Amino acid sequence: MYLQAKGQFSKQAHVAIPPGLYEEEFGRDGFFGPVSHLYHRHAPTGWTRIEGPLRPHAYDCNKLEMDAALTDLSRRIPLLYNDDVTFQIVRPRQPMPWYFRNADADELFFIHEGTGRIETDFGVIGFKPGDYLVTPRGTTYRFIPDSEQNFFLVFESKTRFQQPDRGLLGQHALYDQTVIETPTPEPLTEQRDEWEIRVKRLNQISSIFYPFNPVDIVGWKGDLTVWRLNVQDIRPVMSHSVHLPPSVHTTFKAGNFIICTFLPRPLESDPDAVRVPFYHRNIDYDEVIFYHSGDFFSRDGIKPGMITMHPQGIHHGPHPKAVEASKGKTETHEIAVMMDTLYPLHVTPEALQVEWGEYWQSWQEPSTRQQEVKA
Ligand SMILES: [Fe+2]
Repeated sequence: MYLQAKGQFSKQAHVAIPPGLYEEEFGRDGFFGPVSHLYHRHAPTGWTRIEGPLRPHAYDCNKLEMDAALTDLSRRIPLLYNDDVTFQIVRPRQPMPWYFRNADADELFFIHEGTGRIETDFGVIGFKPGDYLVTPRGTTYRFIPDSEQNFFLVFESKTRFQQPDRGLLGQHALYDQTVIETPTPEPLTEQRDEWEIRVKRLNQISSIFYPFNPVDIVGWKGDLTVWRLNVQDIRPVMSHSVHLPPSVHTTFKAGNFIICTFLPRPLESDPDAVRVPFYHRNIDYDEVIFYHSGDFFSRDGIKPGMITMHPQGIHHGPHPKAVEASKGKTETHEIAVMMDTLYPLHVTPEALQVEWGEYWQSWQEPSTRQQEVKA
C-alpha cells in the first residue's frame, strides 16, 4: 500500500489540525510501522458507556496494603504481568538481612522514593529518587535503605535490559555513557557468623549459607554488571515544531517490551504544533505509565504514585482540559515511566484492589458522566 489521502486532512501530522477536528494516529508497530491519520469530528475518547471488560485503567499504588511484618524485598506486590515481564511495587522499610539472587529474571528497579546503598557482586552503589538500577539475572545483592520511606518499581524480565539504538542522533544523544554509574569494590565491615543468599529459581526460594560474606569482592572487570542511570542525566529529544512520538523517549529495550521516560522539557513553540499527546488506540502495545513527580496536565486526576494502563484496542489521548491548559504553558515538569508491552498484560487481584474504577469516564465533562456499566 502506498500513501493515500482523502477528504480533510493535515499535510503534516500533529501540525495545523483543521479547526474543530480531532487527529488520531492509527499506526502499527508502536510509532514505527505503517500509519494513517484520521480526522474526527468528535474526540475518540468521547464515549458515553462501555460494556465488556475493555477499558482504560488507573491504579493508585499509594493505597497498596504493604504487610508491616514483611518489609524487605521479599514483599514485592505484582500488579501487571505477561510471559515477558512482571511489573511490581515494593516498599522496603528495613535493610535486607540476607542477599538475594534472581535466577528467573533480569531486574530493573526504578526508585520513586528512598535513598541508601546496595551491596552487590560488583561492590557498593548508592541509590536515590529517579534512579534506574539494572541488576542482571544472577546478580547477588542486598538493599540497605537509609530510612523506612522507600517506594520502588521492579520490572522482572525474561530477557536482558539494553540501551536503545540512537540511530541518527549519535552515541551521545539522550545521555553520555559516562553518566552511567557502576558499583565500586569497598571493604564490608559487618561481621557475622553466617551469611545467607536467597536464590529465586522457578519461582521457588532456596537459601545458600556461607561462613563469610559471599560478595566480599576486591575487584571486577567486564561489561556485564549492575548499572545505574538517574533520570536527571537523561536529556530528552524534542522538536520545537512537532510533537514527537513517545518512542523517542525510550530508555530501555528488552524482549517484547520497552521502558520510556517522560521528562521535563519545553513544549512545542510553533503555534500550529499540537502540544499534547495525540489520540491513538494502542494497536500493537499495552501501555502502562507510572507517574513519578510533577503536574500531569494531560491526565486529569492523576497524581504521583499512580499508574494508568491503556490496553490494546481502545483509545486514549489528552483529557479535554489538557488541550486548553497546554495553550498557556511553555514547558512541562512531569516525570513518568512508561512500559509498552507487545503482548497483553494480565492484572493481579492486588492491582484490582486499588483501581480507580471511574477512570474510563475521566475524558468526559463531569456533568455528562454516567453510571459505570460493569462487565
Ligand atoms: Fe499512548
